[in-house]
Amino acid sequence: MNAARNGSMHELSLEQQASLSSGASTWTSQPAGDIESMHMSDGPHGLRYQGSEGDSLGLGSSTPATCFPTASGMASTWDRNMIFAVGKALGEEARMLNVSMLLGPGLNIRRSALGGRNFEYASEDPFLSGSYGSAFVKGVQSQGVSAVPKHFAVNNQETDRFRISAQVDERSLREIYLTAFEMTVKQARPWALMCSYNKVNGVYASENRELLTDILREEWGFDGVVVSDWGAVVNRVAALNAGLDIEMPPSNTDDQIVHAVESGDCSRETLDTLVSRVATLAERSKPSRSGDMQSLESCAQEHDAIAREAAQESVVMLKNDGILPLDPSGEGVIGVIGELARTPRYQGGGSSHVTPILLHNLLDELGKAMPQRRLDFAPAYSLQAGDHSTRDDLIAEAVSVAERSSAVIVNVGYAQSDESEGSDKHDIELGDDQQAVLRAVQGTGTPIILVIYGGGVIRLGQWAQSSSAIVEAWLPGQAGGAALADILTGKVSPSGKLTESIPLRLEDTPSYLHFPGSNGVVCYGEGLYVGYRYYDTANVDVAYPFGFGLSYTTFEYSNLKVEPRGACEADVHFTVSNTGRRKGAAVPQIYVRNGMPDRPKHELKGFDRIDLEAGESHDVTIHLDQRAFSVWDTRDHRWRAYEGNYTVELATSSRTIVDESTITIAGDGSVPPLEDMSTIEEWMASPYGAAVLSPLVNRIHDSVPDPSPEMTAMFNQMPLIKLASWNIGLDTAAVERMVAKANALRSAQQG
Ligand code: BGC
Repeated sequence: MNAARNGSMHELSLEQQASLSSGASTWTSQPAGDIESMHMSDGPHGLRYQGSEGDSLGLGSSTPATCFPTASGMASTWDRNMIFAVGKALGEEARMLNVSMLLGPGLNIRRSALGGRNFEYASEDPFLSGSYGSAFVKGVQSQGVSAVPKHFAVNNQETDRFRISAQVDERSLREIYLTAFEMTVKQARPWALMCSYNKVNGVYASENRELLTDILREEWGFDGVVVSDWGAVVNRVAALNAGLDIEMPPSNTDDQIVHAVESGDCSRETLDTLVSRVATLAERSKPSRSGDMQSLESCAQEHDAIAREAAQESVVMLKNDGILPLDPSGEGVIGVIGELARTPRYQGGGSSHVTPILLHNLLDELGKAMPQRRLDFAPAYSLQAGDHSTRDDLIAEAVSVAERSSAVIVNVGYAQSDESEGSDKHDIELGDDQQAVLRAVQGTGTPIILVIYGGGVIRLGQWAQSSSAIVEAWLPGQAGGAALADILTGKVSPSGKLTESIPLRLEDTPSYLHFPGSNGVVCYGEGLYVGYRYYDTANVDVAYPFGFGLSYTTFEYSNLKVEPRGACEADVHFTVSNTGRRKGAAVPQIYVRNGMPDRPKHELKGFDRIDLEAGESHDVTIHLDQRAFSVWDTRDHRWRAYEGNYTVELATSSRTIVDESTITIAGDGSVPPLEDMSTIEEWMASPYGAAVLSPLVNRIHDSVPDPSPEMTAMFNQMPLIKLASWNIGLDTAAVERMVAKANALRSAQQG
């Protein structure tokens, strides 16, 4: 289609075309000609539907909708089908409310345990985050509703989020911070995407042409609409020229776009392209504008059941000395301690805040699951205080419950004020009030089952040792209480796995010295070494490793076989068996290890989730594509799969490798380009360099027949151009000719 004709195809004036580059209201896009307005709504774990006005901070009320577990819980399922099902249910609710664009999923990396919005993000690992993003987007868009992955890009903190410049090196940007977006764009083809507030290496994401056009569209093939985060646009014209389509919410400055086109600061073609993109999105999302708004009541029960299943799968059991599951017909009082059991904390604060259509609390659900057992409850602390001050009267009551119980379920976690959009955490500790409750209850000697609520990780410290069982609930959504009761009473076996390592101390976390930055800049000094990539490479002990999670049953793995496929791919085959006496789900993880310097020890490149009845076995194949063996080459600015030996690890966490097999990958055959400053070693390692340089190197070797090892090392490390100052008949012009010849040979071979 001729871009210049697009505006006129829709019979739009210049003013109408410009109007499409911003919203009509806080939650709607502008209609123009035959292009319909689209309603947008948060968000990632439930619809926060507000009328076309409203607010973006979660302060105002919204229509009740199903509240699913937040992303940190959803991703802990490691279950692409479940994530798809939740995305689909969100898409259905969006469609019932005539919402065309659902603002999620959040694909930023949990770089620091302090990140205030970690609850909205999937993982410290990009492959897992990208798998989550792809499944989510496919689910939402199956309903004719556009997903809007966010916040693109490098938005990994809340501190100074509107201005901070994330200084990140090219390789970490590609391998860690862009990968989840790239996977989602390529695998699920989202129809829209949201840019972030922050700057990336000095340039606002909303004005970052490299991100919004060069990488996103030209490299990855994104053909949708880029909307700004709410208020992320600083300069309308710069944003439009960079590749941003719709400014949200509108700043009523469309006249700037009109002037820019008239004065030539923005080309007509750029505006035509924007019109065409917005028109395409309106067309694609047409099913979401059926016209008649429906009440979500009709799907409330069905979606509540999906929310419950998602929450069941997201729960991670970190410890169990055998006290779990509880026997619903057993003897003795079960103490339920902690206000969170009665007043659940099931989602985070800010723009993703949902008004739940239903809400289950653990206390009531335990009562339903164990009608024959006596449950004694003590709130133990107040959620009202917000300041974590201890209440001696409440603690005394909790102690008395513990004294008459055979086991206590102690519910603790972050308070609402600890974890919200807009601010980062100061520490990862439980509040003083809850620590005091734990100390007092521990003093009674009654075994403790610790249930932890929080969107991000919490340091467990001494409670890791002194509790009999630990269950990480995350922020489990409206059905969390029911799901937890299912897990605690053994109706369902826990199967969630950690998507973020739990450190022993905050000081051990890799970004500790580089978070959250100062003076408008945050330096990503830890580079690639985020999460387990750091702990496992530097051999730093953690409390619980990435990928870890217990079950009520046991699994065994056998018959590992890794078959190379083509030059740079492989299939991993193995058998997983449920060797216990209960039904459960195994989450086999595939890490790839390569001893090359400047690489994390190993990286997650594949996983699956397999449901197995007791005694059942299943043959599994996990495909590893070329990217599994690739690194971003900063000399050539592209992905490269180098020839070499790669160890494929079959694991149940980043620290528990159950089997491994080493294969040789032929590689993509690409070799880096050579330049005058490339070393002799680099020249000789390249077939093209060696072809050109060998005669000279042989001549030098002949003249120095027995060089010492140090002399050889020194020679090999020398850039070729430096030989020009030696008296060996090589001048700079000759070096330039050699560079040209070697690179011509390379281009002829590699294209
Ligand atoms: C958040 C986005 C959200 C938008 C609209 C912003 O403050 O960063 O994630 O989608 O508001 O509510």
